[in-house]
Amino acid sequence: MSASPRKSRYGIDAPYVPLLMATGLLACLGVIAFTPLKGWWLTALILAAMLVLYLHTTLRGKFVVWRELLGAQAWRGDEQVLDLGCGRGAVLLMAATFIPQGRAVGVDIWSSKDQSGNAMDVTMRNAEAEGVADRVGLKTADMRVLPFADGSFDLVVSNVAIHNISDAAGRDRAIDEAWRVLRPGGRLLIADISKSNQYRKRLAAHDAKIERRALGWRMWWGGPWMPTMLVTAQKPPHVGARRPTIEVG
Ligand SMILES: C[S@@+](CC[C@H](N)C(=O)[O-])C[C@H]1O[C@@H](n2cnc3c(N)ncnc32)[C@H](O)[C@@H]1O
Repeated sequence: MSASPRKSRYGIDAPYVPLLMATGLLACLGVIAFTPLKGWWLTALILAAMLVLYLHTTLRGKFVVWRELLGAQAWRGDEQVLDLGCGRGAVLLMAATFIPQGRAVGVDIWSSKDQSGNAMDVTMRNAEAEGVADRVGLKTADMRVLPFADGSFDLVVSNVAIHNISDAAGRDRAIDEAWRVLRPGGRLLIADISKSNQYRKRLAAHDAKIERRALGWRMWWGGPWMPTMLVTAQKPPHVGARRPTIEVG
């Protein structure tokens, strides 16, 4: 299977960031070209490298990494999957390819500051282009208050989304909600550029089996100082747990 389902367009994450990098780069090139301050070439080189890394991560790296992460899961094919802050569907629609008899549900508030062209209908068009619309559901919802019953999902995923909640209490609520909607024995995969230690601590309070690790250069958002960490957790299984069916969209 290819590294990314690139039949659709997934936008640029936090588009103002590469815009700022490009503006800084152009300013440096202007200084070098039109003033005697030739020493600025080093800054220009660093900004150019950051810009290339950022664009690589958002356009390709995250797809390669999530293809590996999802490919490493033990799928039955009928799982219920939830993506917190699914945006245009980069991870959600990839997960949907693993569950021909299951359901992949994405929740988002569709912020175009956090992802260019972010909108529910854009994500649904992507799902249609990828041939997975029959098993994808989308809902406008804040991940701090999820509109799902306890234990509804086999797998909850989230990619560079939870850090967008500005306050620590709000991020804790998002983690608590992710944990609540996870079924006993279910798994949680959270990749984020910051706050991963907070997620680990909060999950530890829930009696989760947790791992935390760096996802490597393909998820460096501009350099090694902006890495993405992965937090995985498993909910302890309970005998006789129910597996409800999700009705969304
Ligand atoms: C950087 S984008 C990543 C989108 C997607 N996960 C991906 O990897 O392409 C972050 C997403 O989180 C969403 N988001 C931010 N705060 C949210 C909240 N409180 N509840 C739900 N979604 C949120 C944004 O609208 C945006 O779609």
